[in-house]
Amino acid sequence: MTAQLLAKAENTSAVEIIRFNTAAQAERAAAAVLRRHITQTANSVLGLATGRTMLPVYAWLRQWHREGELSFAQSTSFNLDEYCGLASDDPSSFVSYMRLNLFDHVDMAKGRFHFPDQTHPEAFDARIRDSGGIGLQLLGIGRNGHIGFNEPGADRGSRTRVVTLSVSTRMANAGDFPAGTPVPEQAVTMGIATILEAERIVLLATGSGKADILRRAFQGPVGSDCPASYLQLHNHVTVICDSAAAAQLEEPS
Ligand code: F6R
Repeated sequence: MTAQLLAKAENTSAVEIIRFNTAAQAERAAAAVLRRHITQTANSVLGLATGRTMLPVYAWLRQWHREGELSFAQSTSFNLDEYCGLASDDPSSFVSYMRLNLFDHVDMAKGRFHFPDQTHPEAFDARIRDSGGIGLQLLGIGRNGHIGFNEPGADRGSRTRVVTLSVSTRMANAGDFPAGTPVPEQAVTMGIATILEAERIVLLATGSGKADILRRAFQGPVGSDCPASYLQLHNHVTVICDSAAAAQLEEPS
């Protein structure tokens, strides 16, 4: 309790929460932040997320690329996480997700997108640093407060590493696997410290299923019970949400 209060007192949080009426508006706004960053930054370094929340975001990026408004030719990306034990061409892998939803449709060069590797997780942070560091990190949020696959209990100082997934996360993601195929028990994820090193962070949350955790993450105490709450310690976080996800947030007084 004391540690949590101290963390709060030292908090220099600059979390900006932007609420939209609909999920479609929130998704487009998150995609537009990425577009602006990519077009205004030479050699942009992006941190990317997977999950259902991001599907419409990537649809916008594909569309803008198709229409000639957006090029990824000078961008580099680092994905947050990947399951352990899946071949990269496994349809349930995050590599497949990203190829299907973004990389195969845009002009990012093949060697420019990166995923953490379960055999050398520690090399990922060095690789991010060598690329100049992540300029814009896109995040979703799990119902238990995970970011990347940093489940409750994750340490503020954690780095890219192999983790064991919680039962609730495996259940939430079961739909991404063929019937009868179990969700892997382990994954490799960027750590909390890795994520907090990004220059700017944009977290997108849509739907009533995220309402409780959004309040806990951004209006509750900072601590490992809710890993997303560590984002309060960062100085440039934008939370973009729809009214359903924002339903339990207290209005600023
Ligand atoms: C995925 C990731 C996860 C998801 C989270 C929410 O790369 O990092 O933290 O953002 O599990 O997933 P959805 O969007 O499916 O609710």
